Amino acid sequence: MVPNNRSSSDRPAKDNGSAEQRRRPSRRSLFAMAAVGVAAGTVGFGAARITAPGAELPDWTAADMPSLVGRRAIVTGANGYPDEGRSGLGYHQALALATAGANVTIASRNRERGEEAIRRIRAEAPEADLHFETLDLTDLGSINLFVRRVEDSGQNLDLLVNNAGVQGRLQREESQDGSERVFATNARGPFALSAQLRPLLQEADAPRIVWTSSPRVGSIDFDDLQKERTYDYGQAYDDTKLGNLLMAFECERRSKVGGWGITSIAVHPGVCRTNIVVNGPGLDSPEGRRFRFVPPLWQDPAIGALPALYAATSPQASGGAYYGPKQLRGLNGLPGFAIVPDSAQDVELASRYWTVMEDLASVSFS
Ligand SMILES: NC(=O)c1ccc[n+]([C@@H]2O[C@H](COP(=O)([O-])OP(=O)(O)OC[C@H]3O[C@@H](n4cnc5c(N)ncnc54)[C@H](OP(=O)(O)O)[C@@H]3O)[C@@H](O)[C@H]2O)c1
Repeated sequence: MVPNNRSSSDRPAKDNGSAEQRRRPSRRSLFAMAAVGVAAGTVGFGAARITAPGAELPDWTAADMPSLVGRRAIVTGANGYPDEGRSGLGYHQALALATAGANVTIASRNRERGEEAIRRIRAEAPEADLHFETLDLTDLGSINLFVRRVEDSGQNLDLLVNNAGVQGRLQREESQDGSERVFATNARGPFALSAQLRPLLQEADAPRIVWTSSPRVGSIDFDDLQKERTYDYGQAYDDTKLGNLLMAFECERRSKVGGWGITSIAVHPGVCRTNIVVNGPGLDSPEGRRFRFVPPLWQDPAIGALPALYAATSPQASGGAYYGPKQLRGLNGLPGFAIVPDSAQDVELASRYWTVMEDLASVSFS
């Protein structure tokens, strides 16, 4: 069982008025249900399930972050996009962490976009201490080189925010080494990176790893992790997002048993106006049409970044917890507890997934 979260089955029932009132949804709840249905379709696909939030956390924003002076953080996928006025969640995470005094490494595959993020962050926070390092999560060689550079810098490492991720494109694509692109970016890459950075993280005082999931998750098919038999772009994404939850909780368990001292936490951002659909299935896909035609449902990524920032920095954040927005059934708003899907609480599944990932990533993480 994952600590500090409630599963969908153990939520307390509320007495909200007469039986008739309970049967008859209000106009507001009808709107909310419709909105959730539409929004859920924008972030997940297929037969995946939607997680819903708890709301026990008091309101928390980036202004509540503690000072991070002396702390070093790596944020994957923290790009700025010069061509558009839109940046991903990682940009806002890097901005907030650097503003709070952390030394931030922006780790992504495109130097121009990484340096654009640095330029824009420095324009907002002139004292920001940050730099760019090339990292392509689909390429195990690039991950190895990145980790060597981090180690050679001689600096400490306190926080790893595994933020970078992609949605599937309409046709299956492979990384240079023949891995399915979504799986390589969202699951194998963060696993390999975290495994290799573990020794450095372990030297820090209270280190944390944050893993990014999604409001909807899929399932794990060990016989076709790379989607060679059947490729569905939505399923490919949703399955890796269950993988992110499994890895987050298994990492916490292994850290406790192995005495690593690393706190592992899962987050999701809700539904945010970023580049993920544009760079994934595209604006002409069903998701792209929802992205274009239902703009109010897509929250500002600065808000969507808050669950990760809470997990990375709040003294109240717990290892093995899962945080996401607490409004509109977990799709919008400030951080709260997210409901953990039953499949993500399956310890045997997580352990098996971990072992398979060690094999596929050619790393030991135990
Ligand atoms: N936006 C949402 O509604 C939503 C909902 C649920 C979960 N999420 C999750 O939130 C995270 C951030 O997504 P986002 O919405 O901010 O999307 P985004 O704007 O597309 O940003 C994704 C970031 O990941 C980077 N990236 C992609 N492939 C990479 C690779 N091979 N190696 C290194 N970096 C790579 C991208 O770099 P490039 O610029 O080079 O592509 C970009 O910086 C993802 O894990 C996503 O699954 C988002």
